[in-house]
Amino acid sequence: MSTGDRYYKQDLAFIHDVGFSDYALKSAPGILAILAQNNIHKGLIVDLGCGSGLSAQEFTKAGYDVLGIDISEAMIAIARSRVPSAEFRLDSLFQAEIPPCNAVTSIGECLNYQFDAKSDRQNLTNLFHRIYHALTPGGVFIFDIAEPGQVTQGITKGFTEGDDWLVLVEKEENPELSILTRRIITFRKVEEYYRRDDELHHQRLYTATEITNQLHQIGFQVETMASYGQYSLPSAHTAFVSRKS
Ligand SMILES: C[S@@+](CC[C@H](N)C(=O)[O-])C[C@H]1O[C@@H](n2cnc3c(N)ncnc32)[C@H](O)[C@@H]1O
Repeated sequence: MSTGDRYYKQDLAFIHDVGFSDYALKSAPGILAILAQNNIHKGLIVDLGCGSGLSAQEFTKAGYDVLGIDISEAMIAIARSRVPSAEFRLDSLFQAEIPPCNAVTSIGECLNYQFDAKSDRQNLTNLFHRIYHALTPGGVFIFDIAEPGQVTQGITKGFTEGDDWLVLVEKEENPELSILTRRIITFRKVEEYYRRDDELHHQRLYTATEITNQLHQIGFQVETMASYGQYSLPSAHTAFVSRKS
């Protein structure tokens, strides 16, 4: 299996798209307002970890060109059918070439995932450098991260359900290593039976302070927020607006 078909496989990609669209859709008005405040009214937005293209759909509706990059084949397939006018590439955001652009976004804690060999601290720093060089002067990098404190004690177990699907998630945080592990079981109705699939996701959790310091060292001006406009992020998450002057 390549990395592209190991994570957010067909059923989890479908469930994320239909059951967890709020994060992207409700944050989009706030992100569009930030772009307008920075006098970015047109041009290219590169969306890293674009998922099923929900942000891309809102950005293209507002008149921007969009290049979406994601490591999941199933997510990219949904995104291509949702937003035919945008471009989507199957690649790791830690390796993909980022073309010259007016804005880079990464919505929904995409930078925390440890899906490929490149997703360590050093490669996150390298990514920040690459984004800085790709942005035009005055460009912005808007993203959010998950911080330590996702699970405060022991192991949590929960589920979410829709009409023809169910997802069970067990979470455990290793505070020494700052790693969150999510064991995910999906059930999706296919004709008269429910099909089961399993995924294991690891995320490296970063503090807002360490990310802010890194961005400053590269030359970004940084503002942190607990919401995108009216959309409040879940607890222990921070959003960043990083400007290249
Ligand atoms: C929680 S989803 C968010 C998707 C989308 N941004 C949204 O808000 O709906 C995280 C996404 O990040 C992608 N992702 C994780 N690690 C990645 C990597 N190294 N390169 C590209 N995409 C990655 C996943 O495949 C998934 O689509």
